Amino acid sequence: MNRKEFLSKVGFGVAAVMIPACITGLSGCKKTDSGPTNVDFTIDISKGALSANGGFVVKNGVIVARTKSGTFLAVAAACTHEGTTVNFNSSENKFVCPNHGAQFNSNGAVTKGPANTNLKQYNTSLSGTSLRIFS
Ligand code: FES
Repeated sequence: MNRKEFLSKVGFGVAAVMIPACITGLSGCKKTDSGPTNVDFTIDISKGALSANGGFVVKNGVIVARTKSGTFLAVAAACTHEGTTVNFNSSENKFVCPNHGAQFNSNGAVTKGPANTNLKQYNTSLSGTSLRIFS
């Protein structure tokens, strides 16, 4: 067996093993909807983007938004399609991915593809000007 024949057979063998893993959603082929775990941090909302309704910030892998009515939202910042950081559209109260246009409602649920899994949602609790974001 010459080198070309060997590489041809080995290459085919590797591909034959890898393809079923991707098809079945195993190994690194599967997209995940999991955001950061064990989230627990605070943000001072007396300054910065969260000091006004409609603003948002990204911290520790979480996008924290303040709606037009002043409610705080927190979901995983990485789009579940390919990981691009999403933005908050305050006029429509939804999260939007600037990469391929996926959209998520205020709870992080997918409302428009190509993403097909939800953004992980986190709890918020306001004490004075300290906003706690936690799992
Ligand atoms: S990375 Fe968000 S829609 Fe593709």
